[in-house]
Amino acid sequence: MKPLKVTSNFEVYDSIEELPQDIQTLMRKAISTRDDAYAPYSQFKVGAALALDNNEIVIGSNQENASYPSGLCAERTAIYYAGAAYPEAKIQNIAISAKSMKHKVEAAVPPCGACRQALVEYEVKQEANIAVYFMGESGQVMKANSIKDLLPLIFDNSVL
Ligand code: THU
Repeated sequence: MKPLKVTSNFEVYDSIEELPQDIQTLMRKAISTRDDAYAPYSQFKVGAALALDNNEIVIGSNQENASYPSGLCAERTAIYYAGAAYPEAKIQNIAISAKSMKHKVEAAVPPCGACRQALVEYEVKQEANIAVYFMGESGQVMKANSIKDLLPLIFDNSVL
């Protein structure tokens, strides 16, 4: 037996204003999209905005359902739309913001495990990293340069 240490790297920004201008614009798009989420059951609204290498911005918000598992997260709503509408484009950046209608969320809210798995599929497909910026309603923004920082030891098509 030998131990294996896996490390992840993140950057922490104090607020949106500290982000590069293009990412600020992307995050503000995620925030306005978040506020349009359909989340009557959880009262937890999430918005995602993707920047593609063809200069398109694609948005997604969580879409819930009375049959709870039929709902979908913001991130997957966005990436699956991007995959459908722009199958050749590469995703460069994703900005994510989450807001509870019940309490203030100031901690940065990372994508759920299922969305990390969905995102890494596209990182592998496009052979280029996707930078992930995520935040709560306000406050700090965290950045991962690759989904692999959020999801080490990925399961991908190389093992199939
Ligand atoms: N949600 C997202 O949209 N993205 C995530 O990464 C975490 C969770 C949504 C799913 C559900 O509509 C609500 O937030 C509460 O879990």
